[in-house]
Amino acid sequence: MPEKMRIDKLLSNMGLGTRSEIKRAVKQGKVTLNGTVVKDSGLIIDPIAQEVAYEGERVIYRNVIYLMLNKPQGVISATEDNKDRTVIDLLKQEDTLLNPFPVGRLDKDTVGLLLLTNDGQLAHELLSPRKHVDKTYEALVWGDVGEVEQTAFTAGVELDDGYVTMPAELMIVNKEEQPIGICSTIRLTIREGKFHQVKRMFDAVGKKVLTLKRISMGPLQLDESLEEGSYRELTAVEVEQLRAHRGREK
Ligand code: URA
Repeated sequence: MPEKMRIDKLLSNMGLGTRSEIKRAVKQGKVTLNGTVVKDSGLIIDPIAQEVAYEGERVIYRNVIYLMLNKPQGVISATEDNKDRTVIDLLKQEDTLLNPFPVGRLDKDTVGLLLLTNDGQLAHELLSPRKHVDKTYEALVWGDVGEVEQTAFTAGVELDDGYVTMPAELMIVNKEEQPIGICSTIRLTIREGKFHQVKRMFDAVGKKVLTLKRISMGPLQLDESLEEGSYRELTAVEVEQLRAHRGREK
């Protein structure tokens, strides 16, 4: 991120209007820099060292955004798609200004925790195969899941393309009889992120994932008070925990 920037860019990034609206506001004398009215909307400023105000109110500059989304079904974990709605379409316009993007992918029909940020370095490190960041999923699986699958997942299973998964931890939460037969609610923690990994791991042991929800990623836990489709900013503590976690290699 640049240290210095145009004042109109800063104000529009902070959600105070489009560039042309800001230009008008500058002409109307609504913008000040260190208490002096700004005359040129293209003025280059240092947003950290200098104090910008809009209609008399201090504009606090920031250049990073961290959002926790409870992803609903039916939306794509991407910034653009020419067919489907994306997770970015769920954001309020002002939350898109800093160009957040999803950290990794959840399938269209998977729900749950998705981090959106414009912090490319953090995203890269959370996704790096070398870092082995834990991801925990809760799933409803068709079939009686038990010790056989626990043992298989601990050892690693061979996926349809021949890849053998790293040790994963399987917890059985509940089993119940459904019209289609016995179904198991499980929690699975994996340390890698192959395409459709959870579904393919169950395919490998002859079971089918019916619903899938991500509940954690590294130290970040899904805030269960967020309804599907809602999001909030990470707290300062959550951001710190993620930053501390990313340095670890397992
Ligand atoms: N594993 C899957 O199969 N799907 C996801 O969306 C995430 C992990």
